[in-house]
This record gives sequence, C-alpha cells and structure tokens, in this order.
Amino acid sequence: MSGERGCGGRRVVVIGGSSEIALAVVRALAQREPRAVALLGRDGDRLAQAARSLERAGCEPVCTIALDADETDGHEAAVAAAFEQLGGADVVIVAVGLLGERGGLPRDVPGALAVLRTNLVGAGSLVIQAARRLESQRHGTLIVLSSVAGERVRASNVVYGAAKAGLDGLAQGLGDALHPNGVRVVVVRPGFVHTRMTRGLPSAPLAIGPDDVARAVLRGLDRGDEIVWAPASLRWLMLVLRTLPRSIVRRLPI
Ligand SMILES: NC(=O)c1ccc[n+]([C@@H]2O[C@H](COP(=O)([O-])OP(=O)(O)OC[C@H]3O[C@@H](n4cnc5c(N)ncnc54)[C@H](OP(=O)(O)O)[C@@H]3O)[C@@H](O)[C@H]2O)c1
Repeated sequence: MSGERGCGGRRVVVIGGSSEIALAVVRALAQREPRAVALLGRDGDRLAQAARSLERAGCEPVCTIALDADETDGHEAAVAAAFEQLGGADVVIVAVGLLGERGGLPRDVPGALAVLRTNLVGAGSLVIQAARRLESQRHGTLIVLSSVAGERVRASNVVYGAAKAGLDGLAQGLGDALHPNGVRVVVVRPGFVHTRMTRGLPSAPLAIGPDDVARAVLRGLDRGDEIVWAPASLRWLMLVLRTLPRSIVRRLPI
C-alpha cells in the first residue's frame, strides 16, 4: 500500500532515544540531509551517549528529554517538550520496547505484565500523543517499531507478540484516520535484529543488523510504503504463514 513518499523535513523526534534501531534510522536520515533531533528516554547516560554519536554523524543540535514509557501521565508533556524544542517535528520514531521472557504461558507473570505495559500501553500512549501533535500540525511522518512477532502471534513468543499485535493495529488504524490530515504512519516490522535487545539469544534465520533495518525504512519512506518489513522477504514468508491452518502452524518450529 502506498501513501505519501519521501523522508523530508529536518526535525526528528525519537521516542526510545537509545534504541539501536531508531538511532540507525536517524543516522541514515542524516546522511541525506542534516537533522535536528530530540531524543526521549529514561536513561540519561545512554541518551547523552546517543546524542554524541548522532552529532558525530552530522545531526545538530541533539537535545534529550526524560521520559518513562511506563509513566503515561508524563507522556503528553514530554512529547510536547520535544516538539517545542524543535519548533515542530517532521518525523517521529516510536521505538520503546522490551523483549521479556519468550515462550508460551509465562512463568514470570509480573514480567509478562511489564512487557504488555511497556510495549502496548506505554508505546501506545506515546503513539497517540505523537499522532495528536502531528495531526495538529497537519504534517509529519510517524514511524512505529512493531515486529514480525505481532503479525501472527506464535507460541514461541506469545506475550511480546500480542503486545506488538496491539501496537501494530493501533498504528495502522491511526494511519488510516490521519491520512486525510496530512499525517503518514509507517509501521516497521523487523524480524530478528542484532541489538542490545537480542544480545545473548541464538540468532534466528534472516537475522539482520540495525543498519539493514534503517535502509529498509528509508526505502519504504521513498516508496510511500505504509508497512516496512525488514528484511523484505519476511513479507512473503508471513503471507504464506498466515494462509496455513493453525493446526499446521502449531507444529512448525517457529
Ligand atoms: N531487536 C530486534 O530483534 C527487534 C525485532 C523487531 C522489533 N524490534 C522493536 O524495535 C524497537 C527497538 O528495539 P532495539 O532492537 O533497537 O532495542 P533497544 O536498543 O533495546 O531499544 C529499546 C528501547 O526501548 C526503550 N525502553 C524500554 N522500556 C522503556 C521504558 N519503560 N521507558 C522508556 N524507554 C524504554 C529502551 O530504553 P533504555 O535504553 O532505557 O533501556 C530503548 O531505547 C523495539 O520496540 C523492539 O520491540 C526489535
């Protein structure tokens, strides 16, 4: 599906400002033209390190704003502060996420609830706040980090997949709702990406790096895609998987 094209506009807000994937996307954007960036996150040291790395990559200026995805009461003010610092925003990336315990029925119930809280309620609240700001500007692109795990929730990663399925649906629905108002929502569905989130886990087939995701995102923005798969071949793999009966999918080692 196609909407508006391009990744124009200098002002970039990154929610989950220490995310390795999000930072790779900003570096790739900055290679095309200099960007002013606001990084939002909960870990001041990591944000400061990320800001320095982006400045070295040609972003100027980079400001940092404190934000905890689990503290939804503070989201409106934090997102507003980012837009005010930059004088509005052209691109907003929502990248907050936790992987948590993988598998089916959780053994760690509080941990499972934390994944739902951060990845669905927290990230969902941030998507809504960013969308409200973009809608009031009547301009901008909202990039939401979903996951292939949310396209078809599998027994190997139930809670994370369910949270991403909810977030993915929210982002797609808002994309349709805001399309007439000049706001574009791009849902990114990576597979296994080698970042801090997956460190220590056995690599999966079709595993890629954050820079590969960034290239896929920029290609998607250029083409006007509303859904970006990374790698692109996952799109076809998931299409096949979706058409298979559950009785078969259940027995697959995925
Ligand atoms: N890596 C993969 O294989 C993969 C695959 C598909 C989708 N994704 C999604 O891509 C996004 C980025 O992941 P990544 O691979 O770049 O991993 P990452 O580097 O670990 O990034 C995750 C980000 O979420 C932030 N975060 C988590 N909980 C938070 C909270 N309560 N409040 C504020 N920030 C919070 C982290 O901040 P801190 O620095 O403070 O921890 C970090 O900035 C995530 O949404 C992830 O689910 C990743």
